[in-house]
Amino acid sequence: MTSFDRRAFLAGLGKAGAALATGSWLEAIGYAQVSRGPARVRVQALPAVGDFDRRVLGSFLEHLGRAIYTGVYQPGSPHSDATGFRTDVVREVKELGVPIVRYPGGNFVSGYNWLDGVGPKAQRPAVLDRAWNSMEPNQFGTNEFIEWCRLTGSEPLLGLNFGTGSAEMAVALVEYCNVERGTKWSELRRSHGYAAPHAVKYWCLGNEMDGDWQIGHGTPHEYGQLALKTARAMRQLDPSLELVVCGSSSASMPLFGTWERIVLEETYDEVDYISCHAYYEEKDGDLGSFLASAVDMDGFIDTVVATADHVKAVRGSDKTVNISFDEWNVWYLSRWENVEKIEGLDNWPVAPRLLEDVYSVADAVVFGNLLISLIRHADRVTSASLAQLVNVIAPIMTEPGGPAWRQTTFFPFSITSRLAQGDALELKLDAPTYETAQYGEVPLVDAVATFDAESGRSAVFLVNRSQDEAVTLTVDVASLGDVSVLESHTLADDDVYAKNTLEDRERVAPRANDSVRIEGGELTITLPPVSWTALSLG
Ligand code: AHR
Repeated sequence: MTSFDRRAFLAGLGKAGAALATGSWLEAIGYAQVSRGPARVRVQALPAVGDFDRRVLGSFLEHLGRAIYTGVYQPGSPHSDATGFRTDVVREVKELGVPIVRYPGGNFVSGYNWLDGVGPKAQRPAVLDRAWNSMEPNQFGTNEFIEWCRLTGSEPLLGLNFGTGSAEMAVALVEYCNVERGTKWSELRRSHGYAAPHAVKYWCLGNEMDGDWQIGHGTPHEYGQLALKTARAMRQLDPSLELVVCGSSSASMPLFGTWERIVLEETYDEVDYISCHAYYEEKDGDLGSFLASAVDMDGFIDTVVATADHVKAVRGSDKTVNISFDEWNVWYLSRWENVEKIEGLDNWPVAPRLLEDVYSVADAVVFGNLLISLIRHADRVTSASLAQLVNVIAPIMTEPGGPAWRQTTFFPFSITSRLAQGDALELKLDAPTYETAQYGEVPLVDAVATFDAESGRSAVFLVNRSQDEAVTLTVDVASLGDVSVLESHTLADDDVYAKNTLEDRERVAPRANDSVRIEGGELTITLPPVSWTALSLG
């Protein structure tokens, strides 16, 4: 379907079209069935969750390890341009498709003086980064980040220092970035060579302020009051700013739930989003639980939504606070926690190799499933950041003297970013289940879809969590009219722990799924064990 008349299309859909037109429950694709061995299971219809906000496909770049230095910025490298930006990385970031990037931290931001990172580079000080026991040379700062965002086509989401920083310096940064001219901080920016304002709309009010590892952490009341004061001052300057207040660092934090409630009670009228952070890893060889990580993410989101809506109800507010899931990924955190940390003040390295997790096929399948969970919650998760982007728990890796390459997780992200458009549609899969140690009984298959009325294209994202069985899935697509499969991609491997490495950079890549066919209005596809799949229909 090339040229698209939305009304005619919806009329043609009959009941489903009427549902779409009124924005209510949608049965555009209809019913699907999953078969597993002899079992055939009927799968339920599809409610439209809401518009899928592309900011959910954001990422995160922190001054941590080699994310900035030798990651995105390496002056003098044959891979870099005149400013020092690695052009091979810019290409990969564009291909990955990240509409918004969070910066400069993370834990780093709680000790960061943004003034150290602006102005003539030769005059910028080297400082100790207490979050990651590293030396920060400050050769890449706010202005370089904004320039880099323009190169990659992404929008900035700037974090503010709620550790050693102050409300005064937070608002000064907003003025530095966004006021055109004629004030102390806007003139400073202009003197640094940036005549036009940066127009930064999205801001994080600190980072993980409930964590005792965070410089400046405190009680939810203390943080909430500081966040309120800062947010008010920022909004006096520019009421159109969109602000993210810190939720818990994870759902396992001791104050989880209480933290969100109190922080939102303090700040509700002045903020737009509350943050969620979640990292998953395979623990003690329990692949079954790991593969079900999205079940945990689903529950996490629902709980934070309920807490935010509780505060809304108590206040009698007609405003809704949404979620910025601004850190999510697979991260082998337990391995990092067991690494000996650098001691002493005189030997902190610049850009050490930190958190350089190498991802397997299984990791990428879980990762793709986390994206499915985020899309499924499109009505309330309206911003998110994959943590992180380059070298540090990242889909893109570089070597200082060598190339950039794609980890396994690159593929589910880039394909989802390219294909997911329009409305998010929840697929009610009544699939077979399996037992996990961590989450009890969970569905073997997970899926979500999007439908873009403008182009008439649908995308379906699927995961088979079974470790040993292929699953055949049947979807009734008759109500979509005469559609065909435009693209199919499946990520799977006989070795679920296969990885892309510097030595073998293209070991893992998705392949077309030859099993997919549409006949008589029915789509059938076989999903190999431990696999992630994307389909484009139109
Ligand atoms: O993404 C790595 C770190 O994880 C971030 O700096 C911090 O916010 C989180 O704990």
